[in-house]
Amino acid sequence: MRYDPAIALAPLTRRRAASPIVVAQLGQTLDGRIATITGASKYISGCEALAHLHRLRASVDAVVVGVGTVAADDPQLTVRLAPGRNPARVVIDPSGRAAAAARLFVDGAAPTLSVAGPDAPPPPPGVERLTIAPGPDGTFAPDAIVAALAARGLLRILVEGGAQTIGRFLDAGRIDLLHLLVAPMILGSGKPGITLRPIEELSDALRPATSVHAFEDGDVLFTCDLRARLEAAE
Ligand SMILES: NC(=O)c1ccc[n+]([C@@H]2O[C@H](COP(=O)([O-])OP(=O)(O)OC[C@H]3O[C@@H](n4cnc5c(N)ncnc54)[C@H](OP(=O)(O)O)[C@@H]3O)[C@@H](O)[C@H]2O)c1
Repeated sequence: MRYDPAIALAPLTRRRAASPIVVAQLGQTLDGRIATITGASKYISGCEALAHLHRLRASVDAVVVGVGTVAADDPQLTVRLAPGRNPARVVIDPSGRAAAAARLFVDGAAPTLSVAGPDAPPPPPGVERLTIAPGPDGTFAPDAIVAALAARGLLRILVEGGAQTIGRFLDAGRIDLLHLLVAPMILGSGKPGITLRPIEELSDALRPATSVHAFEDGDVLFTCDLRARLEAAE
């Protein structure tokens, strides 16, 4: 169907969430890449897909990225290409390696949080620390991150990237909705998009209920609802 933001964003905007809802987005090429081998990703997505990403940001309370994305892109994570307010910005940065001069730490455009372990150095001035104890594998359980954000009233959460961060949330069954933006571009090399724990049987594949939305400038948005599968598994 032709892209209509009211339809594509309906599950997020329809009603106020009583419990956390987590949406992930990824802008990828036809061959499933999110960046070149050097990390260049600006811009794989076309103008309309980028505007959709900004509408997504405007629809949530918090936008979450891994520290790899802050290091590669120095993103602002603000709403500029659509109407709406800026969400809180959250960087998952276990050892506090993000540069203190990163734009989202210094621009004052929205509250900014750093999710880190107990031994990480203090965050830059004005950035709130969210300390989470790592799990047995040394990483933060996505459930713990979502619970910590929900405890601050941040119930609608956009996991914007990169691939590792989204993969961890997906592997943990903590993504409710996935917005996959596919650009008519083939890189043939570069950083892969969604990468999950290996499976052997097709019966173990994720098969979300999916709708397809076409943008006028050539990109295609797949909106995937993973909630039915999660409910069936419970
Ligand atoms: N096309 C798109 O839509 C899009 C969107 C965003 C980013 N990107 C691209 O993606 C690339 C970066 O992605 P990436 O996969 O390399 O990195 P990333 O997902 O941005 O960050 C990964 C890092 O974040 C930390 N992290 C994330 N989740 C964690 C958890 N649950 N527990 C503990 N630590 C966690 C770890 O930091 P430590 O290493 O410090 O442990 C991990 O190595 C860049 O090239 C960027 O341009 C593309």
